[in-house]
Amino acid sequence: MVTNSLAILCPAKINLGLSILSRRDDGFHDLDTVFIPVSLWDQLSVGIATASQDSFTCAPIVCQPSDNLVMQCLNRYRQLRPDVPFLEIQLTKEIPAKAGLGGGSSNAASMLNWLNSHYPLPMEEIQRIALSLGSDVPFFLSPTPARGQGRGELLTKLEISQEIPILIVKPAQGIFTKSAFEWLHQNQRADGKPLYTEQIVNALNSKRYCDLFELAPNRFTECFLEMLPEYRSIPQFFLETGADFFSLSGSGSAWYGIYSVASSRSNAVCKAHPDWQLFVCSSLNSNKT
Ligand code: C5P
Repeated sequence: MVTNSLAILCPAKINLGLSILSRRDDGFHDLDTVFIPVSLWDQLSVGIATASQDSFTCAPIVCQPSDNLVMQCLNRYRQLRPDVPFLEIQLTKEIPAKAGLGGGSSNAASMLNWLNSHYPLPMEEIQRIALSLGSDVPFFLSPTPARGQGRGELLTKLEISQEIPILIVKPAQGIFTKSAFEWLHQNQRADGKPLYTEQIVNALNSKRYCDLFELAPNRFTECFLEMLPEYRSIPQFFLETGADFFSLSGSGSAWYGIYSVASSRSNAVCKAHPDWQLFVCSSLNSNKT
C-alpha cells in the first residue's frame, strides 16, 4: 500500500443487453446497453511521491506501465494541470483483462476522480478526458446502473431496487474489444435495434430474469462463439446449472449468469471447469464505491 492513502475500490461492470446500432464517421459505433456495476473490485492507492518521479506498480502485471490507462490518465491530466505533483500509484487487480468487465476503464475513472478531487478541473474537461481514455470510462466516473448510448458515454441512470445474484465465468482466453468490433464489421451489419430499457428494469425489479433473453441480447455473442469455439460449453454450463438468465458481458470473453436460487449458484461453482476463473458477486445498485 502507498503510505497515507486509502485504497480506492474500482468495481467491474456487466452489460445487460448490447445492441450495436450503426458505425459512425469517426470509426466508433453507436450502441445501446445497460451497464450494471458489480461487487468485483480492483484496488487503487494513490499518494504523493517522495521521489522526484512518478512510480506505478500493478499486481499482477497486465501491460507495460506506460500503456496502463491509469498512467495515460495521469499524463493527460497533467497537460491541463501541470501542478499535479509526482505520484506513487499502486494497482491491485482482481478484474480480469480482455473480459468485457471494464476493469481498465474502472481504474482510469478512479484515477480521474482522485485527480479531480485534489486538483479540480471543470466537469466538461473530466468528461472529455474520460471519453478520450475509453468508451466505458465515463460510466465508471459514477458507477450506478445506467443505460449507455452513443459510444457508451450518454448515460441515463436507472433505478434497480433488487440486488442481482451473479456468477461470472472468465475463460483463459480473452478478446480485444477492437477485434470484436472488427469481426462484427466484417461479418454482420451494425443495424441493431434500441433496447426496451424500461422493460429490462421492470424485469430486474420483479426478478423475472428469464425475460431478459428476449429483452437483452448481446450482439457479440456470435462473434464469441466463432472466435472461441472451444468455449461454447460456457452458455451450455449456465443452462445446465439452472441460471435464470446468462449472457456474454460487453464484447467478452467473460460470461455471467443470474441465479435466483442460491443453491443453484453454489452448485454451479462446484461444477465449473477448473480452468475457468469464477467470480460470485452481485449488482451494486447505489453508489457504494
Ligand atoms: O473506447 P475503447 O477504447 O473501449 O474502444 C476500443 C475499440 O473498440 C475502438 O478502437 C473501436 O474500434 C471499438 N469501439 C467501437 N465503438 C464503441 C466502442 C468501441 O467501435 N462504441
